[in-house]
Amino acid sequence: MARIDRHPGVKDYILELSLSEIAARGGIADLFEQGHLVLVRDYRLPLDFSPIASMEKELDRVLEPEIRRRVKKLTTSAFLEGEPPVQRSLFDRSGPALRFKDPLRQSIFDVLCRGDQSLFEAVSKTLRSAQDEIVKIFGTCFPGYNPFRFIPSIRLMQTFFENLHWDNHSIDDDFHQARIFANLDSRPRIWHISHHSDDFMRQIYEEHDLSRFVGKDPNELLEFIHADLLGGTRQTWMEKLPKHKVAFDPGEVWVAESRLISHQIYYGEAALVFMWFMRADDMASPENRFNKRIEAVHSAMAARG
Ligand SMILES: [Fe+2]
Repeated sequence: MARIDRHPGVKDYILELSLSEIAARGGIADLFEQGHLVLVRDYRLPLDFSPIASMEKELDRVLEPEIRRRVKKLTTSAFLEGEPPVQRSLFDRSGPALRFKDPLRQSIFDVLCRGDQSLFEAVSKTLRSAQDEIVKIFGTCFPGYNPFRFIPSIRLMQTFFENLHWDNHSIDDDFHQARIFANLDSRPRIWHISHHSDDFMRQIYEEHDLSRFVGKDPNELLEFIHADLLGGTRQTWMEKLPKHKVAFDPGEVWVAESRLISHQIYYGEAALVFMWFMRADDMASPENRFNKRIEAVHSAMAARG
Protein backbone atom coordinates (compact mmCIF):
# COMPACT_ATOMS: atom_id res chain seq x y z
CA MET A 1 0.00 0.00 0.00
CA ALA A 2 1.15 3.50 -0.64
CA ARG A 3 2.88 5.23 2.23
CA ILE A 4 0.97 8.45 2.97
CA ASP A 5 2.22 11.16 5.34
CA ARG A 6 -0.49 13.75 5.79
CA HIS A 7 0.38 17.34 6.66
CA PRO A 8 -2.08 18.98 9.05
CA GLY A 9 -1.69 22.28 7.17
CA VAL A 10 -3.30 20.91 3.99
CA LYS A 11 -6.90 19.72 3.67
CA ASP A 12 -6.99 15.92 3.75
CA TYR A 13 -8.40 15.12 0.31
CA ILE A 14 -6.77 11.69 -0.11
CA LEU A 15 -9.15 8.70 -0.18
CA GLU A 16 -8.44 5.01 -0.51
CA LEU A 17 -11.13 2.85 -2.10
CA SER A 18 -10.98 -0.61 -3.63
CA LEU A 19 -12.37 -1.27 -7.11
CA SER A 20 -15.25 -3.25 -5.62
CA GLU A 21 -16.07 -0.36 -3.27
CA ILE A 22 -15.90 2.04 -6.21
CA ALA A 23 -18.18 -0.17 -8.32
CA ALA A 24 -20.63 -0.64 -5.41
CA ARG A 25 -21.10 3.14 -5.02
CA GLY A 26 -21.55 3.62 -8.78
CA GLY A 27 -18.13 5.21 -9.41
CA ILE A 28 -16.27 8.16 -7.94
CA ALA A 29 -17.22 11.03 -10.25
CA ASP A 30 -18.68 12.92 -7.26
CA LEU A 31 -15.57 12.49 -5.08
CA PHE A 32 -13.18 13.20 -7.93
CA GLU A 33 -15.05 16.36 -8.89
CA GLN A 34 -14.95 17.54 -5.28
CA GLY A 35 -11.15 17.42 -5.56
CA HIS A 36 -10.23 14.14 -3.92
CA LEU A 37 -7.19 12.17 -4.91
CA VAL A 38 -8.48 8.60 -4.94
CA LEU A 39 -5.96 5.84 -4.52
CA VAL A 40 -7.22 2.46 -5.76
CA ARG A 41 -6.81 0.32 -2.67
CA ASP A 42 -5.55 -3.28 -2.85
CA TYR A 43 -4.79 -3.09 -6.53
CA ARG A 44 -1.62 -3.40 -8.61
CA LEU A 45 -1.36 -3.48 -12.39
CA PRO A 46 -0.78 -7.19 -12.98
CA LEU A 47 2.25 -6.63 -15.19
CA ASP A 48 5.94 -7.27 -15.52
CA PHE A 49 7.60 -3.85 -15.72
CA SER A 50 11.04 -5.16 -16.60
CA PRO A 51 10.76 -4.53 -20.38
CA ILE A 52 10.08 -0.84 -19.68
CA ALA A 53 12.98 -0.68 -17.23
CA SER A 54 15.28 -2.19 -19.90
CA MET A 55 14.68 0.66 -22.34
CA GLU A 56 17.31 3.30 -23.11
CA LYS A 57 16.73 6.34 -20.89
CA GLU A 58 19.31 8.69 -22.41
CA LEU A 59 17.13 10.75 -24.72
CA ASP A 60 20.01 12.78 -26.09
CA ARG A 61 20.72 9.77 -28.24
CA VAL A 62 17.68 10.80 -30.27
CA LEU A 63 19.51 13.24 -32.52
CA GLU A 64 16.62 15.00 -34.25
CA PRO A 65 15.34 17.75 -31.84
CA GLU A 66 11.73 17.59 -33.01
CA ILE A 67 11.61 13.82 -32.57
CA ARG A 68 13.34 14.14 -29.18
CA ARG A 69 10.63 16.59 -28.10
CA ARG A 70 7.94 14.14 -29.20
CA VAL A 71 9.64 11.23 -27.42
CA LYS A 72 9.41 13.22 -24.17
CA LYS A 73 5.65 13.56 -24.69
CA LEU A 74 5.01 10.01 -25.71
CA THR A 75 1.63 8.33 -25.83
CA THR A 76 0.99 4.60 -26.03
CA SER A 77 -0.01 5.07 -29.68
CA ALA A 78 3.70 5.18 -30.58
CA PHE A 79 3.80 1.50 -29.62
CA LEU A 80 0.25 0.36 -30.21
CA GLU A 81 -0.87 2.16 -33.36
CA GLY A 82 0.32 2.85 -36.88
CA GLU A 83 1.34 0.60 -39.70
CA PRO A 84 3.30 -2.47 -38.73
CA PRO A 85 7.01 -2.13 -39.47
CA VAL A 86 8.61 -3.76 -42.48
CA GLN A 87 11.15 -6.42 -41.64
CA ARG A 88 14.31 -6.21 -43.69
CA SER A 89 15.92 -9.32 -45.05
CA LEU A 90 18.49 -10.97 -42.81
CA PHE A 91 20.92 -10.61 -45.71
CA ASP A 92 20.37 -6.86 -45.97
CA ARG A 93 22.88 -5.09 -43.73
CA SER A 94 22.01 -1.62 -44.98
CA GLY A 95 19.70 -0.45 -42.21
CA PRO A 96 17.70 -1.18 -39.08
CA ALA A 97 16.06 -4.55 -38.56
CA LEU A 98 12.62 -2.98 -38.64
CA ARG A 99 11.58 -0.02 -40.76
CA PHE A 100 8.66 2.13 -39.63
CA LYS A 101 6.87 4.71 -41.76
CA ASP A 102 6.61 7.07 -38.77
CA PRO A 103 10.01 8.59 -37.84
CA LEU A 104 8.92 8.79 -34.18
CA ARG A 105 8.25 5.07 -34.05
CA GLN A 106 11.53 4.45 -35.86
CA SER A 107 13.43 6.43 -33.18
CA ILE A 108 11.66 4.56 -30.41
CA PHE A 109 12.70 1.31 -31.98
CA ASP A 110 16.27 2.35 -32.88
CA VAL A 111 17.14 4.36 -29.76
CA LEU A 112 14.81 3.54 -26.86
CA CYS A 113 14.67 -0.16 -27.74
CA ARG A 114 18.23 -0.18 -29.16
CA GLY A 115 17.02 -1.92 -32.33
CA ASP A 116 15.93 -4.94 -30.29
CA GLN A 117 12.74 -6.32 -31.77
CA SER A 118 11.92 -8.55 -28.81
CA LEU A 119 12.25 -5.57 -26.42
CA PHE A 120 9.98 -3.42 -28.63
CA GLU A 121 7.42 -6.21 -28.65
CA ALA A 122 7.68 -6.83 -24.90
CA VAL A 123 7.22 -3.10 -24.12
CA SER A 124 4.27 -2.94 -26.53
CA LYS A 125 2.67 -5.96 -24.86
CA THR A 126 3.14 -4.45 -21.39
CA LEU A 127 1.64 -1.13 -22.51
CA ARG A 128 -1.28 -2.87 -24.25
CA SER A 129 -2.15 -4.73 -21.03
CA ALA A 130 -1.66 -1.59 -18.92
CA GLN A 131 -3.91 0.43 -21.24
CA ASP A 132 -6.65 -2.21 -21.26
CA GLU A 133 -6.59 -2.35 -17.45
CA ILE A 134 -6.63 1.41 -16.98
CA VAL A 135 -9.44 1.92 -19.50
CA LYS A 136 -11.44 -0.68 -17.57
CA ILE A 137 -10.72 1.16 -14.31
CA PHE A 138 -11.84 4.43 -15.94
CA GLY A 139 -15.18 2.75 -16.79
CA THR A 140 -15.58 1.58 -13.19
CA CYS A 141 -14.68 4.99 -11.76
CA PHE A 142 -16.64 7.13 -14.21
CA PRO A 143 -19.57 5.21 -15.71
CA GLY A 144 -21.36 8.45 -16.64
CA TYR A 145 -18.48 10.08 -18.50
CA ASN A 146 -18.47 10.07 -22.31
CA PRO A 147 -15.03 11.44 -23.23
CA PHE A 148 -14.61 13.41 -26.45
CA ARG A 149 -10.84 13.05 -26.22
CA PHE A 150 -8.44 10.50 -24.76
CA ILE A 151 -4.69 11.06 -24.35
CA PRO A 152 -2.84 7.96 -23.12
CA SER A 153 0.47 9.57 -22.08
CA ILE A 154 3.42 7.63 -20.81
CA ARG A 155 6.55 8.88 -19.05
CA LEU A 156 9.58 6.71 -19.55
CA MET A 157 12.25 8.97 -18.10
CA GLN A 158 13.35 9.52 -14.53
CA THR A 159 11.90 12.56 -12.77
CA PHE A 160 13.46 14.18 -9.71
CA PHE A 161 12.54 17.18 -7.55
CA GLU A 162 9.89 18.86 -9.66
CA ASN A 163 8.67 22.28 -8.63
CA LEU A 164 5.21 22.55 -7.10
CA HIS A 165 2.69 23.23 -9.86
CA TRP A 166 -0.78 22.67 -11.25
CA ASP A 167 -1.02 21.17 -14.70
CA ASN A 168 -1.78 23.59 -17.47
CA HIS A 169 -3.25 22.48 -20.77
CA SER A 170 -2.64 25.93 -22.27
CA ILE A 171 -6.23 26.01 -23.51
CA ASP A 172 -9.07 27.81 -21.78
CA ASP A 173 -11.82 25.63 -23.24
CA ASP A 174 -14.34 24.93 -20.55
CA PHE A 175 -13.97 21.15 -20.38
CA HIS A 176 -13.74 18.64 -17.56
CA GLN A 177 -10.75 16.40 -17.16
CA ALA A 178 -10.22 13.00 -15.53
CA ARG A 179 -6.70 11.72 -15.01
CA ILE A 180 -5.57 8.27 -13.99
CA PHE A 181 -1.95 7.73 -13.00
CA ALA A 182 -0.04 4.46 -12.55
CA ASN A 183 3.45 3.69 -11.40
CA LEU A 184 5.09 1.50 -14.08
CA ASP A 185 8.27 0.84 -12.14
CA SER A 186 9.46 -1.53 -9.45
CA ARG A 187 10.43 1.42 -7.21
CA PRO A 188 8.04 3.83 -5.45
CA ARG A 189 6.85 6.98 -7.19
CA ILE A 190 6.96 9.85 -4.73
CA TRP A 191 4.65 12.83 -4.91
CA HIS A 192 4.28 15.87 -2.70
CA ILE A 193 0.86 17.46 -2.94
CA SER A 194 -0.48 20.68 -1.53
CA HIS A 195 -3.47 23.01 -1.77
CA HIS A 196 -6.19 22.95 -4.39
CA SER A 197 -5.83 25.77 -6.92
CA ASP A 198 -9.07 27.48 -5.88
CA ASP A 199 -8.30 27.19 -2.14
CA PHE A 200 -4.86 28.67 -2.56
CA MET A 201 -6.25 31.37 -4.81
CA ARG A 202 -8.65 32.36 -2.00
CA GLN A 203 -5.77 32.55 0.48
CA ILE A 204 -3.72 34.99 -1.60
CA TYR A 205 -6.47 36.76 -3.56
CA GLU A 206 -6.27 40.19 -2.03
CA GLU A 207 -2.57 40.29 -1.34
CA HIS A 208 -1.82 39.66 -5.02
CA ASP A 209 -4.83 41.41 -6.53
CA LEU A 210 -6.02 38.36 -8.41
CA SER A 211 -9.12 40.24 -9.57
CA ARG A 212 -7.01 41.36 -12.55
CA PHE A 213 -7.44 37.83 -13.93
CA VAL A 214 -11.27 38.03 -14.02
CA GLY A 215 -12.56 36.94 -17.44
CA LYS A 216 -9.14 35.70 -18.55
CA ASP A 217 -7.94 32.20 -19.34
CA PRO A 218 -7.63 30.57 -15.87
CA ASN A 219 -4.32 29.07 -16.98
CA GLU A 220 -2.85 32.60 -16.91
CA LEU A 221 -3.74 32.90 -13.25
CA LEU A 222 -2.23 29.52 -12.43
CA GLU A 223 0.87 30.39 -14.41
CA PHE A 224 1.26 33.63 -12.42
CA ILE A 225 0.95 31.74 -9.13
CA HIS A 226 3.25 28.97 -10.26
CA ALA A 227 5.97 30.96 -11.98
CA ASP A 228 5.91 34.31 -10.16
CA LEU A 229 4.82 33.40 -6.65
CA LEU A 230 6.05 29.84 -6.16
CA GLY A 231 9.31 30.29 -8.06
CA GLY A 232 8.40 28.14 -11.07
CA THR A 233 11.25 26.20 -12.60
CA ARG A 234 13.75 28.98 -11.79
CA GLN A 235 13.52 28.77 -8.01
CA THR A 236 12.36 25.23 -7.55
CA TRP A 237 11.60 24.28 -3.95
CA MET A 238 11.85 27.83 -2.63
CA GLU A 239 8.18 27.95 -1.73
CA LYS A 240 7.27 26.95 1.80
CA LEU A 241 3.81 25.48 1.34
CA PRO A 242 2.82 22.54 3.54
CA LYS A 243 2.55 19.25 1.64
CA HIS A 244 1.23 15.73 2.02
CA LYS A 245 3.83 13.15 0.99
CA VAL A 246 2.83 10.03 -0.86
CA ALA A 247 5.00 7.12 -2.05
CA PHE A 248 2.97 5.12 -4.57
CA ASP A 249 3.90 1.46 -4.78
CA PRO A 250 4.94 -0.32 -7.98
CA GLY A 251 1.88 -0.84 -10.17
CA GLU A 252 -0.34 1.31 -7.98
CA VAL A 253 -3.10 3.39 -9.59
CA TRP A 254 -4.56 6.72 -8.50
CA VAL A 255 -7.03 9.24 -9.84
CA ALA A 256 -6.65 13.01 -9.50
CA GLU A 257 -7.54 16.31 -11.23
CA SER A 258 -4.08 17.81 -11.59
CA ARG A 259 -5.34 21.30 -12.47
CA LEU A 260 -6.90 21.35 -9.04
CA ILE A 261 -4.37 19.47 -6.88
CA SER A 262 -0.94 21.10 -6.70
CA HIS A 263 1.77 18.47 -7.00
CA GLN A 264 5.45 17.90 -7.45
CA ILE A 265 7.10 14.65 -8.38
CA TYR A 266 9.87 14.18 -5.87
CA TYR A 267 11.06 10.99 -7.54
CA GLY A 268 9.72 8.63 -10.16
CA GLU A 269 10.71 6.36 -13.01
CA ALA A 270 8.28 5.12 -15.67
CA ALA A 271 4.63 6.03 -15.24
CA LEU A 272 1.41 6.29 -17.10
CA VAL A 273 -0.75 9.43 -17.13
CA PHE A 274 -3.99 8.89 -19.00
CA MET A 275 -6.28 11.87 -19.59
CA TRP A 276 -9.88 11.98 -20.69
CA PHE A 277 -11.70 15.19 -21.58
CA MET A 278 -15.44 15.45 -21.05
CA ARG A 279 -18.14 18.05 -21.50
CA ALA A 280 -19.62 19.58 -18.35
CA ASP A 281 -22.97 17.78 -18.89
CA ASP A 282 -21.30 14.45 -18.10
CA MET A 283 -20.35 15.57 -14.62
CA ALA A 284 -22.06 14.64 -11.36
CA SER A 285 -21.80 18.35 -10.44
CA PRO A 286 -20.95 20.56 -13.44
CA GLU A 287 -20.33 23.56 -11.14
CA ASN A 288 -17.24 21.74 -9.85
CA ARG A 289 -15.39 21.87 -13.14
CA PHE A 290 -12.09 23.68 -13.19
CA ASN A 291 -13.09 26.88 -15.04
CA LYS A 292 -16.23 27.26 -12.92
CA ARG A 293 -14.29 26.83 -9.66
CA ILE A 294 -11.93 29.64 -10.61
CA GLU A 295 -14.87 31.84 -11.66
CA ALA A 296 -16.60 31.04 -8.37
CA VAL A 297 -13.64 32.37 -6.39
CA HIS A 298 -13.63 35.60 -8.43
CA SER A 299 -17.38 36.04 -7.83
CA ALA A 300 -17.14 35.29 -4.11
CA MET A 301 -14.28 37.74 -3.66
CA ALA A 302 -16.07 40.44 -5.66
CA ALA A 303 -19.20 39.95 -3.53
CA ARG A 304 -17.15 40.46 -0.38
CA GLY A 305 -16.18 43.82 -1.78
FE1 LIG B 1 2.15 17.95 -13.31
